[in-house]
Amino acid sequence: MSQKQIVSLGGYDFEASIEASEIEQLVKNLADRINMDYDDRNPIFIIVLSGAFIFAADLLREINIKSDITVVKVKSYHGFNSTGEVKILLAADIDLSKRHLVIIEDIVDTAQTLHHFSDYLRQFDPLSIETVCLLSKPDAHQVDIDLKYVGKDIPNDFVIGYGLDYNGQGRNLKHIFTKVD
Ligand code: IMP
Repeated sequence: MSQKQIVSLGGYDFEASIEASEIEQLVKNLADRINMDYDDRNPIFIIVLSGAFIFAADLLREINIKSDITVVKVKSYHGFNSTGEVKILLAADIDLSKRHLVIIEDIVDTAQTLHHFSDYLRQFDPLSIETVCLLSKPDAHQVDIDLKYVGKDIPNDFVIGYGLDYNGQGRNLKHIFTKVD
């Protein structure tokens, strides 16, 4: 991209920061690692809606090992709620016990959602739980979290595109755009 594309949403400007071609390469690299690590382990991929749907669709088409796929929708309560529980709005429709679970997340920001969702999953007595996320903001993490598969670490800025939204908009953008201050 010679000149950075700008989109405006809700009165804010967002500047293209990760091009579609780079995203494609990040996704392929993640899939290669997972294909190697999970060969013969028959994992269950758990897509965390809504933001991860585009990333998951691209990632899973690069996965060439035997696996199952399910979706969940979770809402995380933190800040005002000391227990920090996740509310499961849509539960996985598959038996998760004694299986290798791979959570597919779009972006890890404070890491609270993932932290609490991983805790929730432990009740099903899985063989293992790992996470693959396209983006992570290490400077924003509030809890220690083990992220095995990260496409790219980014600064603590708000981003949209490739499934990520601002108030429900911008998910359809091909590139990832960063909010301009
Ligand atoms: P966390 O619990 O703070 O890690 O937040 C996780 C969720 O917040 C992600 O799955 C996204 O849906 C949303 N989120 C966090 N950062 C961004 C962002 O920069 N753009 C859009 N959504 C975000």
